[in-house]
Amino acid sequence: MGTNFIIDNKEEGKFLVNRQTFVDPQILEEEQDKIFSNCWIYVGHESEIKTNGDFHTRDVAGRPIIFTRDDEGKVHVLLNTCTHRGSLVCRGENGNCKTFLCSYHAWSFKNSGELIGVPLESGYPASFNKKDYGLHEVRNESYKGFVFCNYNNEAESLEEYLGEAKDYLDYVADQSAAGMEVIEGTQKYAIRANWKLLGENSIDGYHVSYNHKTYLDFMVDEGQDVSKGLFGEGRSLGNGHAVMEYEGPWGRPVAKWQDNWSEEAKVRIEKKRQELINRLGEEKAYKVMDASRNVWIFPNLIINDIMSLTIRTWNPISPDYMEVTAWALGPVDENEEERAHRLDSFLTFLGPGGFATPDDVESLETAQLGFKKTINEVKWSDISRGMHRDISPTTDEKQMRSFWRKYNELMTVDEKQNSEKEPKLV
Ligand code: FES
Ligand code: FE
Repeated sequence: MGTNFIIDNKEEGKFLVNRQTFVDPQILEEEQDKIFSNCWIYVGHESEIKTNGDFHTRDVAGRPIIFTRDDEGKVHVLLNTCTHRGSLVCRGENGNCKTFLCSYHAWSFKNSGELIGVPLESGYPASFNKKDYGLHEVRNESYKGFVFCNYNNEAESLEEYLGEAKDYLDYVADQSAAGMEVIEGTQKYAIRANWKLLGENSIDGYHVSYNHKTYLDFMVDEGQDVSKGLFGEGRSLGNGHAVMEYEGPWGRPVAKWQDNWSEEAKVRIEKKRQELINRLGEEKAYKVMDASRNVWIFPNLIINDIMSLTIRTWNPISPDYMEVTAWALGPVDENEEERAHRLDSFLTFLGPGGFATPDDVESLETAQLGFKKTINEVKWSDISRGMHRDISPTTDEKQMRSFWRKYNELMTVDEKQNSEKEPKLV
């Protein structure tokens, strides 16, 4: 479709997104190739595989993988396809085991991916070497417990890729000196909308007062002051990553007390605040304790560090359908009451049946229907809010433009390479 994924006109302050990117199956194929097969894609948190032998199976960038810790404690991301003739070697969703046994012809693999057992092995010629048939290991790296993989072995390191976004993973990882853990109880749901819409929505401060009125009314009923909205800033973090950071009207179990929590919690939280200031210094401790933020790590990871702390990732299945997974994260040494507040918000605000996510899902699904039915007449969406100013409140759309500029860069990389090869006109 040429280079017209976006129109980015800084002089006129105009930023438009081509709606074909939400409906065209060929564009999704290109995205799988140019984005999901080239970027660092989130796999899971190390705390999910605490013990040697722990594993989870999941889809990462459209591929079935096994996220596992071997008997020596090393983390692996293995493709869940038998090197014999393709079947899944692990059918369970999660568990703990020493070996994966393919149910087709019973080849067996260690939890490190090494092939260790082949029935009737004497039927193979002498050149057959089990060492050549281990499960395919996907390149993976971890930053502060967050494990990502990359299907492109030539790609930059994870740390280079994350760039400024690393600070925002630090604000999460440093919330407890004892470490952070994914809490049992995964949210899984699907949305009949294009995958990019969920990223946009997750860092969109503009919609909150209108789309989530029910939740805000609920907070008012609970005696909280919501009059300031999400007072803060939207920023690009480079490389397609972005953040919306603000002071939210809610308590944060990590270290910000809320009026209707217990007096014991107030005392505990005051102690935690002091510990954070001593350990991290005033400035960083403020970020950890009082600031809320929604971080979009390109292309499909959101960290919602708000009244609860969630990791959210999602996979496009077709241009108009995505599958979403979300986990709650918390300090391993958290008190029972704070943990209960955290999990309550994980359901009440962020859960697929809560006060907010159904609003978002409805908005995204109706947008998708609009794109599908009116694509011949209405070809562009507008994401220009705040183009005229350097500092953007959370209600601007600078965060989304950060994504779309990177998206455009990756999706047009062939065109750029071709045009560089063409002789220059003089
Ligand atoms: Fe796995 Fe044959 S396909 S053992
Ligand atoms: Fe929302």
